[in-house]
Amino acid sequence: MAATITATLHSCVLYMVAVMLVLSLQGAPAGATDVITATQPLSGQQKLVSQGGKFALGFYQPGGGPQAKWYIAIWYNKVPKVTPVWIANREMPISDPASSVLTIWTDGNLVLLNKSRSIVWSSNTTITAGASNTTVVAVLLNTGNLVLAYASNTSNMIWQSFDHPTDTQLPGMKFGRNKVTGVSDRQVSWRNHTDPSPGIFSIVMDPNIEAQYLFIWNNSWPYFTPGKFNPQTGAFSGIPAMTAISQPHSIYSYDYVNNDKEEYFLLTIKDDNIFLRTVIDPSGQQKGMVWLEQKQDWMLYFAQPSLCSVYSSCGAFSWCAMDSVPMCSCLRGFSARSPTEWKSGNYTGGCTRNVALPCSLSSGSSMPSMSRRHEEDRFYIIKNVRLPDGSETVQAASKSDCEVACLNNCSCLAYSYNGTCSFWHIDLMNLQQDPDNKGDSIFIRLPASEIPRTKSTRGRTIGVVIVVSALTLGVCLMAVSRLVRRRRRIQGLHNIGVNLIAFRYKDLQLITKNFSDKLGGGSFGSVFKGVLQDGTAVAIKKLEGVHQGEKQFRAEMSTIGKIHHVNLIRLLGFCSEREHRLLVYEYMPHGSLDGCLFKTSSDDVLPWNMRYQIAIGIAKGLTYLHDKCRDCIIHCDIKPQNILLDASFAPKVSDFGLAKLLGRDFSRVMTTMRGTIGYLAPEWISGTAITAKADVFSYGMMLFEIISRRRNVEFGKQHMDKFFPILVAEKIQEGDVKAVLDVDMRGDANLEELKRACMVACWCVQEDESSRPNMGAVVQMLEGLLQINMPPVPRYLQVLAESADQSAIQSWTELSPSS
Ligand SMILES: *[C@@H]1O[C@H](CO)[C@@H](O)[C@H](O)[C@H]1NC(C)=O
Ligand SMILES: *[C@@H]1O[C@H](CO)[C@@H](O)[C@H](O)[C@H]1NC(C)=O
Ligand SMILES: *[C@@H]1O[C@H](CO)[C@@H](O)[C@H](O)[C@H]1NC(C)=O
Ligand SMILES: *[C@@H]1O[C@H](CO)[C@@H](O)[C@H](O)[C@H]1NC(C)=O
Ligand SMILES: *[C@@H]1O[C@H](CO)[C@@H](O)[C@H](O)[C@H]1NC(C)=O
Ligand SMILES: *[C@@H]1O[C@H](CO)[C@@H](O)[C@H](O)[C@H]1NC(C)=O
Ligand SMILES: *[C@@H]1O[C@H](CO)[C@@H](O)[C@H](O)[C@H]1NC(C)=O
Ligand SMILES: *[C@@H]1O[C@H](CO)[C@@H](O)[C@H](O)[C@H]1NC(C)=O
Ligand SMILES: *[C@@H]1O[C@H](CO)[C@@H](O)[C@H](O)[C@H]1NC(C)=O
Repeated sequence: MAATITATLHSCVLYMVAVMLVLSLQGAPAGATDVITATQPLSGQQKLVSQGGKFALGFYQPGGGPQAKWYIAIWYNKVPKVTPVWIANREMPISDPASSVLTIWTDGNLVLLNKSRSIVWSSNTTITAGASNTTVVAVLLNTGNLVLAYASNTSNMIWQSFDHPTDTQLPGMKFGRNKVTGVSDRQVSWRNHTDPSPGIFSIVMDPNIEAQYLFIWNNSWPYFTPGKFNPQTGAFSGIPAMTAISQPHSIYSYDYVNNDKEEYFLLTIKDDNIFLRTVIDPSGQQKGMVWLEQKQDWMLYFAQPSLCSVYSSCGAFSWCAMDSVPMCSCLRGFSARSPTEWKSGNYTGGCTRNVALPCSLSSGSSMPSMSRRHEEDRFYIIKNVRLPDGSETVQAASKSDCEVACLNNCSCLAYSYNGTCSFWHIDLMNLQQDPDNKGDSIFIRLPASEIPRTKSTRGRTIGVVIVVSALTLGVCLMAVSRLVRRRRRIQGLHNIGVNLIAFRYKDLQLITKNFSDKLGGGSFGSVFKGVLQDGTAVAIKKLEGVHQGEKQFRAEMSTIGKIHHVNLIRLLGFCSEREHRLLVYEYMPHGSLDGCLFKTSSDDVLPWNMRYQIAIGIAKGLTYLHDKCRDCIIHCDIKPQNILLDASFAPKVSDFGLAKLLGRDFSRVMTTMRGTIGYLAPEWISGTAITAKADVFSYGMMLFEIISRRRNVEFGKQHMDKFFPILVAEKIQEGDVKAVLDVDMRGDANLEELKRACMVACWCVQEDESSRPNMGAVVQMLEGLLQINMPPVPRYLQVLAESADQSAIQSWTELSPSS
């Protein structure tokens, strides 16, 4: 923002003189035209404005600064925060717009000429018959497309900027591949946020697989693909997000067209007044953004892939874990190359050795003997990683041969052995936990001084290097705790002393009468009722989409099985057999809070004191999960469907630990299938690290529902003029909380408690995580032990709710699966 203002001021100053000159020379201010012709070129501060006024084209200077680098750009004419969507001369900036012109060349091409009248940039299209500086014009269309066409008929197009995108896809722009020429469209990121020259990340259609595009690093490494697009479902195989987004009521649709000549993706908006774009960002993520008039800012509505999946986002010799804080950590024996940049969150510089490898120091005349070198370097293992790119295969008969071969070559930095021996001679990039837990291991070379000798003579395996210290900081790190646990030797359940029953699948089939009595279903599987031989009723969750190996699954079970709290559902056992993964829980006769709140008749609603005790109980259960158990657990999916009620209506939080169990699959489903307005905290959408405060947000959203018995996701369907949380925030300030109570309770509530509940809910749904209380504080506030200040109106929700476009909200609410 500051940079934009500076740039604008800067350009104002620079142009004071130039503008006057242009104006006086032309005798009249350049009216808002949308065409360039040979006799009407563009120069200085002049700009084109599309008919309809949505886009403008002119000279643009990003970032300001002393070095004046100017570009021909197209930006949103009505968006105060100058947002370029296309740049012509990104590789060839000019220094002085006043003396440069954008005009039609003698051959009919659109050209940018600098002070010395040299062509700096050209549309450079093959000359078409009849094209010349008298017959061709350039027109800026209201879609943001700059087209070169015959003046006699501007539909007769010679060239268009939509065929030559920079980093942005706009509605109406094809992104695809010409099957005749084999040329694929490519969008290339800016180098950084102030330098539009081509950066290191790009997206391009996959030349080999139809309906799929690739994310590429440095023109060479493909690092991500959302998968193949399925036109039937409107989804990419790897990313269900688009499914939801292209629902009929959505503000835009995403389509795929495939014919003999070409295949392409096309973004279409339903309403021309919506400003929507996707961009491949200098961070390597593709981001979808929509302009919110109310907030006067762009709002991110999707980002992919996660930063850990972006090639080299953590630089060399470091490790990436999306759920950890910070996201990147140096491997053991390495430290940040530039600690200041590292601290500021720029990890691309990577890590460097604390102690150089002895052999690299002594390379030259006085080479130590081979045998000494063996003594000097050692290896430590990192398990379950996605191996870095760029390995070389080496002949070796066994793992130890492989190790010796690596030791004998000083440029070998790491090796891996799976039957094949692989070496790495180049900086190790992109080490991260393997999402599929396939269990590749890599051995990292360090000088002996960096690895103390272990008792075992052969085994040099030292545990995974991870910021364990972060755990002691009290930060909740799902991925880290998983890894740390994996390091412990996995043992049989009995040895850990967990009182869990390992069921056989066929026994579960028997006690559920072959899964015939379905209690409910959720995002991660269906729940069935069963009765054990002793008559105990149980609820059995059949997990779907768990690709975890048996050992890993058992290890997770042993953790979850150790968690006991009166407000958390008790895990009794599990089944892990072949592809089957099931969890066996105690049975809750009153079902879910969702049922008790929403599926009852209006004269049979839960009374206030019960609702209040339920709210406190849930908060206590979450406090325990967040703070009190050994490995901190973020629930990640707090909603009324996941709160169960026992015989005396005491709440029990269920499905905790699933986030851990499902790992990456879970967060993928969470971030992509759900809307923001239901229960999900904004950090799910923005792709930043998830902390326990995400649960606090969801808890707050649920508390609104407990108070009002109105579903958040039904906003818009109930003809409410205000989104409920906003209404609550306003009523608190007006001192009229009674107005927000469930109407069917007919005012029968403890007003002091009601006020407290409303205030707590408002604090919980603040956009800024640090403004939200932790669950322990929530308990204390509800119990009246902690005073509550007046909460501000939750700004994030307000922006969503008051967004100029009502349909946008509806589409977001529709992302939330109906129960
Ligand atoms: C158009 O091109 C001709 C040469 O083909 C040139 O003589 C003339 O000056 C050009 N006109 C303009 C307005 O640039
Ligand atoms: C104009 O561009 C040409 C070719 O890129 C270059 O050689 C020349 O120095 C530039 N002139 C000015 C004044 O920038
Ligand atoms: C125009 O394109 C040709 C090849 O298609 C290329 O060699 C030339 O450098 C381009 N010229 C400009 C000014 O971009
Ligand atoms: C203008 O050009 C388009 C595309 O080439 C063509 O379909 C259309 O018939 C032309 N219109 C006129 C009036 O010549
Ligand atoms: C962006 O990159 C340019 C050089 O490519 C550099 O001069 C500038 O400092 C960078 N800006 C930021 C914010 O890193
Ligand atoms: C990108 O690739 C080029 C060779 O194609 C190489 O010279 C350059 O160093 C690479 N950039 C980085 C940052 O590795
Ligand atoms: C991050 O740091 C690297 C050097 O370590 C630098 O080249 C790059 O410009 C920085 N990126 C940003 C966005 O500041
Ligand atoms: C070490 O490996 C590199 C890359 O494979 C190779 O070029 C080099 O010759 C090897 N050095 C020795 C001493 O084997
Ligand atoms: C072993 O690793 C290599 C290189 O990473 C890979 O190409 C190969 O498929 C792996 N083999 C097995 C049996 O996993």
